[in-house]
Amino acid sequence: QALIGRELANSQVIVVSNREPYIHERDESGEITVRRPASGLVTALEPITRACGGVWIAHGSGSADRDVVDSRDRVAVPPEDPSYKLRRVWLTEAEEEGYYYRFANEGLWPLCHIAFVRPKFRREDWEYYKAVNARFADAVVAEAAGPSPIVLVQDYHFALLPRLIRQRLPEATIVTFWHIPWPNSEVFSICPWREEILDGLLGSSILGFHTRFYCNNFIDTVDRFMESHIDRELSTVSTGREATLVDDYPISIEWPPEALAGASSVEVARQTVRERLGIGADVKLGVGVERFDYTKGIPDRLRAVGILFERHPEWIGRFTFVQVAAPTRNKLEAYQGIRSESEQAAEEINSRFARNGWRPIELLIRHHEPAEVMELFRAADLCVVTSLHDGMNLVAKEFVAARDDERGVLVLSTFAGASRELLEALLVNPYDNDGMAEAIDRALKMSEAEQRGRMRMMRELVRDNNVYRWAGSMLLEAARMRRRRAIRKRM
Ligand code: F6P
Repeated sequence: QALIGRELANSQVIVVSNREPYIHERDESGEITVRRPASGLVTALEPITRACGGVWIAHGSGSADRDVVDSRDRVAVPPEDPSYKLRRVWLTEAEEEGYYYRFANEGLWPLCHIAFVRPKFRREDWEYYKAVNARFADAVVAEAAGPSPIVLVQDYHFALLPRLIRQRLPEATIVTFWHIPWPNSEVFSICPWREEILDGLLGSSILGFHTRFYCNNFIDTVDRFMESHIDRELSTVSTGREATLVDDYPISIEWPPEALAGASSVEVARQTVRERLGIGADVKLGVGVERFDYTKGIPDRLRAVGILFERHPEWIGRFTFVQVAAPTRNKLEAYQGIRSESEQAAEEINSRFARNGWRPIELLIRHHEPAEVMELFRAADLCVVTSLHDGMNLVAKEFVAARDDERGVLVLSTFAGASRELLEALLVNPYDNDGMAEAIDRALKMSEAEQRGRMRMMRELVRDNNVYRWAGSMLLEAARMRRRRAIRKRM
């Protein structure tokens, strides 16, 4: 944290993402409330932006967002202790529909995730995507205090933004992070505007992915579709102008998470959560926490819980699985389908196995604030993260961070980037329901000593490779690039 502050002492940092870190809503009584969205990106970026100060530019999406901004569409955040400015960009309904729902989430999202959902690409959505990227470029230029800010561009909503910024602020240091997987070149070639997207991203000084595998996929894609010079040893790509460093930076969380401050003891959390959910004190608890997204593998996971009771009936009445699912991207058909499929799976399993007031599955479809999620993690005996495909998955790391008692077992998909780091989790194939059921059984039977050994290793890793290291390594590289450029200029 101190290192980041020192290196960037004289630089302006501008963060750009679609999702805003604080959403102002007006409730039924007319009161304005502030909500933290369910977003891995926000979880990771927020502590960094607090440490750097500067400006965060994002789409204003809350019902009271306009009521709290100044004449430049800015509001100081975090509300309880302001340390940076949030600048909101207002999108029309048509822009939000075309750029966010359709091009980004019906096109790029399924294109980059292996979940067997067909990507949809339509010319009119592409036009909105281009127009909204240009609007965010305007906002970056308007916020830039000088010719060379450090701009942190986040995610697949803004593939064109790095090049647009580079054209108008050639001296800027642009650090882009792609928070989702990058597919192989054959899959990526489905996108009719693949060259434009690659060229847009190559406006970056640094382009980061979670894993080396995604970097290699990206470099292979450039190699196949662009006239370029690739230095595989330095991991740089250039198309004639300045080279872009393409490197892996596994994202992480704040250590310890802010939401853990003031948390009650594990014993109290166990009791409180069980009482709230009407679960007996001696019943083991499993949790899953995510947005209701088809990449997260929720229906398969619920079916695995059903198979567990079938194969290991000794758990009937002795294990409950709580699935928190935050509604997300509801307008899209693929998301409506996943909700009804999950509800149906939960109902089937509950009607088959429930007895004497005990239910095997609790499906809680609502947004949970970070402190509530932490309490659930601390109350649980195991956490199941079985994404079909996931860039990183920070829920896995949050569960580990929540367990300062060194207890609890993580069941983790091999298709989540986090599985490359959290090797002491029980790693599972999310398409193999029988295998997942056996892993849950194994987790439930795991000795305290084994839990402690595994949890301790994972906690050390998340503590050392925390989000400050993630941002720090990118920002230090950016600072190095700036120094090199200054030396070159003087020569
Ligand atoms: O984790 C991938 C991601 O796209 C984040 O980058 C994003 O914040 C999160 O999913 C939530 O999605 P949305 O912002 O569309 O609700």
